Amino acid sequence: MKTVTINTLRELKEAGEKFSVLTCYDSTFSTRINEAGVEVMLVGDSLGMVLQGHDSTLPVTVEDIAYHTQAVKRGNQHALIMADLPFMSDSSLATLLENSASLMRAGAHLVKIEGDAWLAEGITQLSQRGIPVCAHLGLTPQTVNQLGGYKVQGRGDAGQALIDAAIKLEAAGASLLLLECVPTHIGEAVTRAVKCPVIGIGAGPKTDGQVLVLHDMLGITVGKTAKFVKNFMLEASSIPEALAAYHKEVKSGEFPAEEHCFK
Ligand code: KIV
Ligand code: NA
Repeated sequence: MKTVTINTLRELKEAGEKFSVLTCYDSTFSTRINEAGVEVMLVGDSLGMVLQGHDSTLPVTVEDIAYHTQAVKRGNQHALIMADLPFMSDSSLATLLENSASLMRAGAHLVKIEGDAWLAEGITQLSQRGIPVCAHLGLTPQTVNQLGGYKVQGRGDAGQALIDAAIKLEAAGASLLLLECVPTHIGEAVTRAVKCPVIGIGAGPKTDGQVLVLHDMLGITVGKTAKFVKNFMLEASSIPEALAAYHKEVKSGEFPAEEHCFK
């Protein structure tokens, strides 16, 4: 398989082809996820919940993400590695640049940052310095306390605001967008409104790529899982088989199905 870059993802979007993304936090899974053909691995701050046992992503540090990015890099052959900028790692422009540099030094190929239209300045500064950025919009778990819970975003007037923010952030230099927990029609509208690839989680079947948390799709997450999650172990006899089935179903458009989406 050819090495995946942000250009590969753009070409897939232009060709109308889907791509798959999974979170990954260690070297063994990194190798297995590569073998499944998954294009992008996200070293997500979801590790605060699934690895560290916290009840939110807020306690995760840049050092935590860097440590796991190094491990994922060691197991990687050809996938694109995206690392999350954790809570408050962008508290000033200088801090944002330095923390992003740390994640790139650890082995990331791009960083992901949560926010809204106000991310524009930071995204421009990063992309000018050679750090591609994915802007995470919609449900942004780092602001769960401000949002008042993990709820569907972009309903009503907020939908147009989300589309406008996406256009603004692409113009600012964003290489990718990620939409979490938005109605299917908003996922589709954002995906059409921008040239850069859009990854969705609970954003309907029309986004260019799909992402799930590894532990969720393997059916081992402790506690409740979201509506958008599918347990790929139910019809697999091994973890590598479940990873391959996920990739195949994203590519074919079989996942996400209606039951995983928000109206
Ligand atoms: O941290 C994470 O796993 C994420 C995905 C859920 C998009 O940001
Ligand atoms: Na995250």
